[in-house]
Amino acid sequence: GASPIVLGIESSCDETGAALVRDGRLLGQALASSMDEHARYGGVVPEIASRAHLHAIGPVVRAALADAGLRLADVGAVAVTTGPGLSGALQVGVAAAKSYAYTLGVPLYGVHHLAGHVAADTLEHGPLPNPCMVLIVSGGHTSLLLVRDVARDPIAHLGDTLDDAAGECFDKAARLLGLPYPGGPAIDRAARDGDPSAVAFPRPLTGPRDAPYAFSFSGLKTAVARHTEARGGAVAVGDAAASLQEAVADVLTRKAVAACREYGVRALVVVGGVAANSRVRSLAAERCAAAGVELRVPPPRLCTDNGAMIAAVGDLLVRAGAPAAPLDVCVDPSAPL
Ligand code: KG4
Ligand code: ZN
Repeated sequence: GASPIVLGIESSCDETGAALVRDGRLLGQALASSMDEHARYGGVVPEIASRAHLHAIGPVVRAALADAGLRLADVGAVAVTTGPGLSGALQVGVAAAKSYAYTLGVPLYGVHHLAGHVAADTLEHGPLPNPCMVLIVSGGHTSLLLVRDVARDPIAHLGDTLDDAAGECFDKAARLLGLPYPGGPAIDRAARDGDPSAVAFPRPLTGPRDAPYAFSFSGLKTAVARHTEARGGAVAVGDAAASLQEAVADVLTRKAVAACREYGVRALVVVGGVAANSRVRSLAAERCAAAGVELRVPPPRLCTDNGAMIAAVGDLLVRAGAPAAPLDVCVDPSAPL
């Protein structure tokens, strides 16, 4: 018969997400965000995030069920993000997921947040090609992975950021440019009216002697700081935003496509919040087309944190017959990749 309907819950940062997935199909979803409450502090405040999750979690689960036209009793398994993320924020989602699993008498699955970002793409484009290159670009991670068989083979980890993540770079640079939090979407918007060749920002770690798949973004943030200092109050924000976005998109896509070429991989999957960036998407499309590589990027709403991506992993685990997590499973705020 049909696989069970999986309820997925995400609460690792500032988004409270819930969604229902069955057999690789998204049935319904809902999302609440505490983003606006953090804006005046310029970044996510963990205590505020936890409290917001606590208020939102019940309503968000009910809204996801309503969106799917389902009742709680229809849920056959529960999946929840156990890490990495903010400890208190994760604990709210995990406590809720345990309660649902226990009261419904259905299995509980702990999900790695980054596996969720990768699986998000399967809801839009079907099973991942085997092998595929995966570029994960979020607020906390920038990693290039060679994925041969998600279920069986371990993942080959080709490179990471040595300092800031790509999203972190956008968030910090936005602050320097006087743009609101979160910085990524604000820079994307400001860049529309800017000239991407106006400022010659560096392309870190792209020299012939540099590690080919390592990333570094803290120098770019410093370059933006120098640029704004040098111009006093008279920075052309659109030009700076467009130029920074061009530099980040250039480095990310150049390395990802080079990795596809070196390893003979014909598909690139770009996921995580920064995959929502318009220039990352267009430059990746250009360069993949030129290299004969198939590009897969989820629609923007599935790139940033959401419940559907967690439900998608739960659905894969259920169908693979993976063992369920015990009801005393703990959060793992610094879960390794
Ligand atoms: O994946 P995500 O929602 O949360 C984490 O797991 O970190 O990613 C959030 C990050 C933030 O740094 C945000 O500024 C960035 O993704 N982001 C963007 C865009 N939308 C979100 N960066 C650039 N352009 C965007 N359109
Ligand atoms: Zn994320």
